[in-house]
Amino acid sequence: MMDKNKPKVFVSYKIMPEAEAVLPEFCEYSKWTRAGTPSEDEIITLAWGADALLVDGANPISRKVVEALPRLRIVSNASVGYNNFDLAAMKEHNIMGMNVSGALDDSVVDLALGLIIACGRRICELDQLVKAGQWQLGGDETEHFGQDIHNQTLGIIGMGRIGENLARRARLGLEMKVLYHNRNRKPEAEKRLKVTYATLDDLLERSDYVVLITPATAETKHLMNRGNFARMKPTASFINVSRGPNVDEIALAEALQNRIIASAALDVYQQEPINPDSPLLRLKNLITLPHIGSATAATRLNMSLTAINNLRQALAGERPALIVPELR
Ligand code: DGY
Repeated sequence: MMDKNKPKVFVSYKIMPEAEAVLPEFCEYSKWTRAGTPSEDEIITLAWGADALLVDGANPISRKVVEALPRLRIVSNASVGYNNFDLAAMKEHNIMGMNVSGALDDSVVDLALGLIIACGRRICELDQLVKAGQWQLGGDETEHFGQDIHNQTLGIIGMGRIGENLARRARLGLEMKVLYHNRNRKPEAEKRLKVTYATLDDLLERSDYVVLITPATAETKHLMNRGNFARMKPTASFINVSRGPNVDEIALAEALQNRIIASAALDVYQQEPINPDSPLLRLKNLITLPHIGSATAATRLNMSLTAINNLRQALAGERPALIVPELR
């Protein structure tokens, strides 16, 4: 039954039924049901009259969207990254914006650990070799050689919650040595996790595996560029589980092609989905995944339920703890 007093919400991503079931408890909602993700214009049309949006990181909460929806006052993002938010426009129009910080850390770290091992031991590349019938006995055994993981140095760029989780599990589970680079040095984390701070140059020069876990901001755009790939060891691997714009993809393709570095793995791209003509897709020493850092049923449900909890609190007039820092 329609309850005219309940606030109106538009859900602009494919929400799991277990999470959707909670919404009628506190709002009237409609949702995106078509294939793909809605454009700005589609959000504006479908969310007309909404007090709040429940979105994910693929939904543009641009100035155009913010200014076209007169009743909008809350946007709850079911993602941790919120580079889909136009923060300036949201601030000007007094719109509360929240993310699901903390809801996916373990799953992203699971993936990063998998990619470290997959890069070092060339798991995807050698899987393809076997399937292509190219496995020969008595040949040059060095063709299947990779790099060890244990006792090697992991360099983590970005020591937030996910970086710390990765450092702990890489040290304990894989017996790696860990260097980190962060905007601010973290002396307490250094002691607790037994990790060592390094300048970016030093980290790149000394690490066998470099994992990038920074948000996408103006400062991190193309943080990994030609110069920084050139600082890495020729035997080293680079892994990006953060955001695509942090990497200059042309520089990465060159570094892999010219064996400036040994291998890389990307879960995120400048443009998603990646253009099928991208030179990256022709490289055997690059693992390419379709942005699956948080893609397990349990974690995606946790993300939606966290976003719904934020939404419920905000609609009740409270200030959720997960309002993004720029909008606090
Ligand atoms: C996030 O939540 O930021 C993850 O990258 C999944 O989109």
